[in-house]
Amino acid sequence: MRQFAREEVAPAAEELDRTKSFPYELISKLGGLGLMGIPFPEDQGGGGADTLAYTMAIEELARIDSSVAITVAAHTSLGTMPIHLWGTDEQKSEWMPALCAGEKLASFGLTEPEAGSDAGNTSTTATLTDGEWVINGAKQFITNSGTDISGCVTITAVTGRSNGGGGGAERKEISNIIVPNGTPGYEQGEPYRKMGWNASDTRPLSFDDCRVPESNLLGRRGDGFKQFMQILDGGRIGVSAMGVGLAQGALDEALAYAKERRAFGQPISRFQTIQAKIADLSAQIEAARLLTYRAAIQKDRGEPFTLTAAQAKLITGRLAVRATEEAVQIHGGYGYIEEYPVCRFYRDAKVLTIGEGTDEVQQMVIARQLGC
Ligand code: CAA
Repeated sequence: MRQFAREEVAPAAEELDRTKSFPYELISKLGGLGLMGIPFPEDQGGGGADTLAYTMAIEELARIDSSVAITVAAHTSLGTMPIHLWGTDEQKSEWMPALCAGEKLASFGLTEPEAGSDAGNTSTTATLTDGEWVINGAKQFITNSGTDISGCVTITAVTGRSNGGGGGAERKEISNIIVPNGTPGYEQGEPYRKMGWNASDTRPLSFDDCRVPESNLLGRRGDGFKQFMQILDGGRIGVSAMGVGLAQGALDEALAYAKERRAFGQPISRFQTIQAKIADLSAQIEAARLLTYRAAIQKDRGEPFTLTAAQAKLITGRLAVRATEEAVQIHGGYGYIEEYPVCRFYRDAKVLTIGEGTDEVQQMVIARQLGC
C-alpha cells in the first residue's frame, strides 16, 4: 500500500482534491491489487488478512491522501463488514465478491438529520408489507453512496417497537436492511460541499416508499442498533489509522521542507523551535500508532476492544489536527497555498475529530467503559 500510495495516489491527489473528482481509476487499481477487501476471507474474494494489516494499509494511504483513504476505509469497515459479519450465504454471494474486488462500493446508512451522536434516535421506518420492506425516511453524510459504482447501502430503520421481551419500557426496534442502488424510491442527493475529503463521495439519502424484499434484512430483526455500534467500534480503528497516517504525512512533509528551506543563512531544521515541533510530533505519532495497533490486535485476538478503539480515535483525531497545523506553520506562507500537500492535509484533518463518533462521543464511550 505504501508503494501504491507513493506511486499512484501522490501524483493524482492534488488534482482530484481541486476538481472534487471521485478517484475511480485508483479504486479500480486498488480492487485489482486485492486491497478493497483486505480483512475478508479469501473464499469471499477478500484478502484474507487481519485487522492489523488493514490498519497499516489505511495508515499508508492517509499518509498521502485522506480522500482515497476514507473511500477505502468506509467501504471496508463500514460498508462491507456488516454483510461479512451478518449476511446470509445468499447475501454474501450476491455482494462480497464484487465489493472485495472494488467493482462495487458499499455504504453505511446510520446518521440522520436528527440522529448523529444520538444514533439510536433513528426515525427512518421500514414496514413489512406483503413480503417487502417499505422504507421511508432520510439519511445524511453517507460516504460512498452516490458514485457510479455504489452498489448498496445498509441502513438502520425502525421496524417496530419492543420491550426486549422483558417488562422494561417499550422502545424502538431497530433493524438493518440492505438497499441496492437503483431501487425505486431510493434517491441520493447532491454531494456536500465539504471543508476537506474533497475527492470522496458524501451525500444525503432519501427513501420514499422504497421497497426491498424481506430477505434484505441483515442479521436478526431488532439487532440493528447493536450491530451498528459493533461496526462503529471496528470502524474507529480504521479512522484512527487515518489520523496516524495523516499526522505522519504532515510530519514527512514538514521535515523535508525544514531541511530544504533556508533562513538566516541555514536550513530551518537547525533551529530549536522547529526541532522541538518535529521531535514532539514524532514522539506523539509513534505513541498514537502503537495505541491504534493495540486496538487492532485486540480485535484480531477476539478480545474486547471498544475502549482501546475509542481511546485511539480520540487521540489520533486530535493529533492529526495538531500535526497538520504545525506542518503548515513550519511551511510558513507556502503552507497556506494549495501547491503544498500540507494545505490539503490541514483541511482534511478536522473531520477526524467529528466523523465516526465525535471526540465527545469517544469521551462518553471511554468513561462508560471505565465504569462511570
Ligand atoms: N457494541 C455492542 N453493543 C453496544 C455498543 C457497542 N459498542 N454500544 C452500545 N451497545 C448496546 C448497549 O449494550 C445497549 O443494549 P441493551 O439495551 O441490550 O443493554 C444498546 O446498544 C443501547 O446502548 P446505549 O443505551 O449505550 O445507547 P445510547 O443511545 O446511550 O448511545 C452512544 C450510545 C455511544 C452515544 C452511541 O449512540 C454512539 O456511538 N453514537 C455515535 C454514533 C457515531 O459514531 N456516528 C458516526 C457515524 S458513521 C461515520 O461517521 C462514518 C464516516 O464519517 C465516514
